Order: sequence, then C-alpha cells, then structure tokens
Amino acid sequence: MISISNPFITTGYQGSEYFCDREQETNTLRSNLVNGQSTTLVAIRRIGKTGLIRHVLTQLPVNHTGIYLDILPTENLKEFLNVLATAVFTTLPDQSKPGNKILDFIKSLRPVIAFDPLTGFPQLTVDARPGEAERHIQSVLEYLEAYPQKVVIAIDEFQQILSYPEKNTDAFLRSIIQSLNNVRFIFSGSQQHLMTQLFADPSRPFYQSAGFLKIDKIKAEVYASFILHHFEKAGMIIGLDAINAMLDWADHHTYYVQLLCNRVYAVASGKEDSEFWKIQAARLLQEQEIVFFKYRDLLTKQQWLLLKAIAHEGIVYYPTSKGFIGKHELGSPATVLRSLQALTDKEMIYSDYNQEGQLFYSVYDVLFRRWMQSR
Ligand SMILES: Nc1ncnc2c1ncn2[C@@H]1O[C@H](COP(=O)(O)OP(=O)(O)O)[C@@H](O)[C@H]1O
Ligand SMILES: [Mg+2]
Repeated sequence: MISISNPFITTGYQGSEYFCDREQETNTLRSNLVNGQSTTLVAIRRIGKTGLIRHVLTQLPVNHTGIYLDILPTENLKEFLNVLATAVFTTLPDQSKPGNKILDFIKSLRPVIAFDPLTGFPQLTVDARPGEAERHIQSVLEYLEAYPQKVVIAIDEFQQILSYPEKNTDAFLRSIIQSLNNVRFIFSGSQQHLMTQLFADPSRPFYQSAGFLKIDKIKAEVYASFILHHFEKAGMIIGLDAINAMLDWADHHTYYVQLLCNRVYAVASGKEDSEFWKIQAARLLQEQEIVFFKYRDLLTKQQWLLLKAIAHEGIVYYPTSKGFIGKHELGSPATVLRSLQALTDKEMIYSDYNQEGQLFYSVYDVLFRRWMQSR
C-alpha cells in the first residue's frame, strides 16, 4: 500500500485505504463486468466516477486485465487511437506472449513516445494517415479479443465522441464492440444529457447496449466515519459536529469534501474546536476569488445574474417561475431559459433529478456557491 502524507487526496486514486465507501457501486460494476455486461456510469463532475473506475479496476478477479482511457482531451478518432494505444502499451506486460502481438502491432504503427511533462507518463502518437485510424482502432480491439485474459476497457468521458468530426463514431465503435466477447467496457461520462442521448435513445447504436449505473453523493454517515477515522489515526481530535458541518459546507460533493478535509488535516494538531475548520474554508474561498471574478468577465450580464441567483439559492426547482425571477430581477422567462442553456453548456451549472424525480438546477462549483452566499 502506498503511504502518503495527507490521507485526503484531491487527485487520482491512491488505493482503497484512501477511498471512501462505494462498496455497493463497486460490487455492481464488478459483477456486471465479470458476467459479461458492459456498463455505463454517469454522474455530475467531481463526484467520484474516475475514482470508482480506478478502484474497480484494481478489484477485478484474477485473469482480468483492466485498461483505463480518458478521452476528454481527444478531438477526433486519430487522437482516440493515440490514447487507446498509450493505454494498452502502458498497461499490458511486455512478457506475455500473446500480449506481445498487440505490442508488436502498436510498434508497427511507428509510435513517437513523449513523456507528459506534468505526470511523467509516456504518451504515444502513432503514425496514421487520415482515414486509417478506424482500421487501427479495430485492430487493437481485435488483438485484445485474442488476449489470454478477460479485458475490461474503461473509457472515461465517453460523451466526447459526440464532438468528433467523424460522423457516426458511435455506430463505428458499436459495430466493433458488438463482435467482442473477451472485452467488456465501462463507459463513463459527466455530461448526463449527452450520455443519455448515446445510451437511452432508441435510434442510437449504443441503445441498451450496456447496464446503467448512476452514482450519487456518498452517504453522510459513511463519509463522516471515514473522515473521523483518518483524523483519529493521526491523533487529531475533531468532533463529529464539526465533521458534519464540513460535509454540509462542501455540499457532500466528493471533491470539495476531500479538498476541505485535506486543508484542515494539513493544519490540525491534537484537539481542535468545532469552529477550527472554518478558517480553512474561508482560505479556500479567498484563494479562488480571482477565478470567481473571471467568471463574471466570461459571462453576459444576464448569465452572471442568473448564476449568482442560483448560487444564492443553492438549489432551484423552477428557474422561470415568477417568484424566482422577481426576487433576483432576472427579466423575462425567455431570457432566463437562454442563460440557463448557456450556463449549462459552459458547465457552470448542472441539472439533475432529486430522489422524487424532480428536476433541479444547481451551481457546479461549490466554492463559488459558498463565496456568493458569504457576500
Ligand atoms: N470514494 C472516494 N473517497 C475519497 N475520495 C474520492 C472518492 N471518489 C473520488 N474521490 C476524490 O474526489 C475527487 C473527484 O473524484 P473523481 O473521481 O475525479 O470525480 P469524477 O470522475 O466524477 O469527476 C478526486 O480528487 C478523487 O480523488
Ligand atoms: Mg472523472
């Protein structure tokens, strides 16, 4: 197990010790994959999809190989191929003989290997002429079909394929994937409306081709005991009241919970009073202030007003209602609808359904919301 100086990680995955809960989701995903069912995973950003995928890939039964690709940075099929080749190249062990066939194939594409300046990980850029990428992607997947272990490929931010210039990328991928028995997929995505479009529209190739898993916020009690455990382990005493207040402040949104806990952990020593965390919360907002003012510059006046209004309310069910528009002086319902769409496209706000199936809107950035509410 990796030992790290702060147990509240804010990037990546560092092993199950630093990973809170998700037991049920892990079991569902693993069971789907082991039983041959690919699965679509959706949730808003920063809730823990990538963490869950990483976690599941380390928990696969023996004789399974997990390959992870994040296609968010890709803009076309050639870049998809590069990311796929890189993932296969860095995941499969060189020694295994049949594995070698894939690696030989990738080498035959004359990849240029560069090292990511940030992560230090190798990145391959293969030599494919326009139009060749499809064929090579198909070949890589067919080699994986012949791999001596079961293969799970997780494609993170899958909705990105919708913005490729190649038309019908989903039809192309679906037709290859359909013919594979040895390879299962996790398709994960943050943009729920796009993921739904891909997987829940009967006219699309991926319709009902995979199981569906939506992940939610981690349960408050479970998260609180995880946090308590890590503080106690380091000899720090933070009351459960304070921990629950921290969870509320971060709106139980995984990334923001981790971030706040990370900061508090960094400065805590021994026993701290119940207000102690608030200084760190205020610091976080202060650091971000410059970013928040940038938001204002990037938006139209109407969009900015609406963003502020939703931030103030926290959650808004009826953004075009008289009450809401009047209270925040937002103009006409049509203007609000236009701004709502623009803010959604910019991923400043998101919409989701509550437990009762009611649609609501909320600001993505919890820090921004808290900053707005504190002014
Ligand atoms: N179950 C978890 N326990 C603790 N930290 C988590 C957990 N899931 C995710 N995280 C952390 O929360 C942050 C956001 O998670 P991430 O998986 O990147 O979200 P998403 O992929 O949904 O945008 C990351 O810093 C990650 O390390
Ligand atoms: Mg992610």
